[in-house]
Amino acid sequence: MKPIQVGLLGIGTVGSGVFNVLQRNQEEIRRRAGRGIEIAMVADLDVERARAIVGSGVQVVQDARAVIANPEIDIVVELIGGYGIAKALVLEAIAAGKHVVTANKALLAVHGTEIFAAASAKGVMVAFEAAVAGGIPIIKALREGLTANRIQWLAGIINGTTNFILSEMRDKGLDFDVVLKEAQRLGYAEADPTFDIEGVDAAHKAAIMSAIAFGIPVQFDKAYVEGITQLAAADIKYAEQLGYRIKLLGITKRTDKGIELRVHPSLVPSKRLIANVEGAMNAVVVQGDAVGSTLYYGKGAGSEPTASAVIADLVDITRLHTVDPLNRVPHLAFQPHTLDQAKD
Ligand code: HSE
Repeated sequence: MKPIQVGLLGIGTVGSGVFNVLQRNQEEIRRRAGRGIEIAMVADLDVERARAIVGSGVQVVQDARAVIANPEIDIVVELIGGYGIAKALVLEAIAAGKHVVTANKALLAVHGTEIFAAASAKGVMVAFEAAVAGGIPIIKALREGLTANRIQWLAGIINGTTNFILSEMRDKGLDFDVVLKEAQRLGYAEADPTFDIEGVDAAHKAAIMSAIAFGIPVQFDKAYVEGITQLAAADIKYAEQLGYRIKLLGITKRTDKGIELRVHPSLVPSKRLIANVEGAMNAVVVQGDAVGSTLYYGKGAGSEPTASAVIADLVDITRLHTVDPLNRVPHLAFQPHTLDQAKD
């Protein structure tokens, strides 16, 4: 069967990770998806850089609309970011009958209701595992693994930049500005780092999780949002002396009055697992009525961790066309001490 054809809009840090992981793990991915997944076309303003990443076997264009207009493309992956052109392109891709995969939390937090309605009317999927907590499969956990539960609350460290800043301020006594520059150098921070430090990026992600956990529209505009800019090194030190760590948490909770959605610095007892999540790592605790408390931990940003989530969505969509519900690997039989390799 012909591989499913993917068009990438934007091939920066995440896009190059998607290309590299798809190449490296193509056999496993093909078996799991039931069909090959091929990046057939890439659009990027920097055509030379894009060519250097994908080589000569992939068509590279500057105009994203050429990807959407290509009838061969089955899935469009939007990795441009932001609310502007990304929104127009996602809606155009949906209108053209393409499935869409996006890592764009800002877009979904603000325009998710409109985008999901357009996709549903057109009968295509919009998948966004990479939009929340990078490589942690929290969207799939909420939607699939925990689907039997009435979710009571969830709380997460869902912005790596601010967690990195708080960790470095605590451990090394460094100043806020110095650590922020380092987070930008390491590629954790948003293009506009005020989104990180003012809590907006975490609120985008919390709003998306809240919608899935409680089956409500995405309501970023109603979130209480407070970042870490008012925190001083002394606050972190005093918290430590009292047996707490300060973490920027995104929290959404079922209450008698309705669903709460908030992001703010929180005092977390030092002994809690989530208090010990350091550096740019992310973690989310979800409390369900049947399962109790579950914890998800991993890299919330970066090229291949985010690519891992984007490709998971590509595999999900590909399975729609070739479903093997048990994720079976053909001819795999157990032998004591050694396992047979999969055969075609
Ligand atoms: N700026 C984000 C963060 C990137 O620091 O977590 C991943 O969404």
